[in-house]
Amino acid sequence: MKNNYDTEHIRSLVRPDCVHRDVYIDPEIFNLEIQRIFARSWNYLCHESQLPDTGDYLTTDIAGNPVIVIRHDDHTIKALHNRCAHRGARVLENTQGSASVLSCIYHGWRYGTDGELLSIPCRDNYLNTDVENNQAHYRLPEIRSESYRGFIFANLSHHAPALSDYLGGARRALDNMIDRSPEGQIEAVRGSFRAVYRNNWKIYLENLHDGMHPLHVHQSSIAASRAQIDSIEKTSGKTPPLALQLMQANAQGYREMEELEVTCYEHGHSDMRGFRNPDTAADPAYRDYLDRHRASYGEEKSAEILDMNLHNVNFYPGASAHPRFLQMRVIRPLAVDRTAIEISVFRWKGAPEEINRKNIIYANTIHSPSSLIKSDDLEAYRRVQEGLHSSGREWISQHSLFDPDMEVVSPQSALSEQYIRNQYRAWLACMCT
Ligand code: FES
Ligand SMILES: [Fe+2]
Repeated sequence: MKNNYDTEHIRSLVRPDCVHRDVYIDPEIFNLEIQRIFARSWNYLCHESQLPDTGDYLTTDIAGNPVIVIRHDDHTIKALHNRCAHRGARVLENTQGSASVLSCIYHGWRYGTDGELLSIPCRDNYLNTDVENNQAHYRLPEIRSESYRGFIFANLSHHAPALSDYLGGARRALDNMIDRSPEGQIEAVRGSFRAVYRNNWKIYLENLHDGMHPLHVHQSSIAASRAQIDSIEKTSGKTPPLALQLMQANAQGYREMEELEVTCYEHGHSDMRGFRNPDTAADPAYRDYLDRHRASYGEEKSAEILDMNLHNVNFYPGASAHPRFLQMRVIRPLAVDRTAIEISVFRWKGAPEEINRKNIIYANTIHSPSSLIKSDDLEAYRRVQEGLHSSGREWISQHSLFDPDMEVVSPQSALSEQYIRNQYRAWLACMCT
């Protein structure tokens, strides 16, 4: 399909300190992003613990391609195109399940867990055809996939760099997630949040290290949690529940946010220092966890791991993790103004259950679609999406702490929009090649 955007036109939409609104509202740009960004990037699929046994699978989507992720009988995890080699039906329909053979419902072609064609009804009808002569070709095609310490990513392009090189310095967040486990392993908790947001995918990603917004957008939950905390402290003197403490952390002022370091990496990735710490030495469960962690790693290494408090990390373009609260989020663009977000939570193997439960409380409090906090963000995202249809102004400002001489990957603060400018560097590199 011919499009209206040649390379020069695309380049003209991004300036060093601002971008044109068409990047968020033009369906044609959106289609190009799917082809040139998502179809060529490493897309997070799942964690290996979500597919413990042979035949365990889940279905997903990469750049509009239906995909199966399945545990093969040699115990490797395969990513396969979910598309029958006969007349093209999607073979697996459920979002997750288990199957030793993958059977197409339409005419009964059957495939193995590695995608190989096993059988066809009325086989004699295919004698001397390409199906018989070239059977290896009639399979569920495999997609390039790689694991980084159990996190499985896939890439539709064979020209992309290896996963580990692509993640670069941002790998430290995944390392920290795993190394916080006394056993050096994590596993997924059953269930996940899935919601469709009414905004372009980039608006979500651009909010994740934004230290300028909490004081404004989250005013109501800051005030409500403050009132509750005051009342609990006055009446019982007890420590307020974790959910209230998590909400209250958004009350930090600009000075505190300015001290939070945001680090940018190649390929549009970035991470941000944490500003919530749910653990105290007074908590017996945390002391128990600390003992177990030190026993595994030794005091020095244990302190080094636990001192790294990262609020979140963005793996451009389609994933974000919370290393401190063990969460992985997948950003799936559906349309220029619709984005599906899927959130999975993990537990540290070998950690006391009270410690792991904090990750669930965090997800419910901050990231549930009905949370008092996320609903504030969703309203802001929607308003940006709708506001950009105004023809009164063409450009979107990304000027906060802009310095044309600044190294893009140098450390910034959470008040800087440098990580967004870094995302656009990656955007241009993908869109203009
Ligand atoms: S489309 Fe799958 S067997 Fe015919
Ligand atoms: Fe927010």
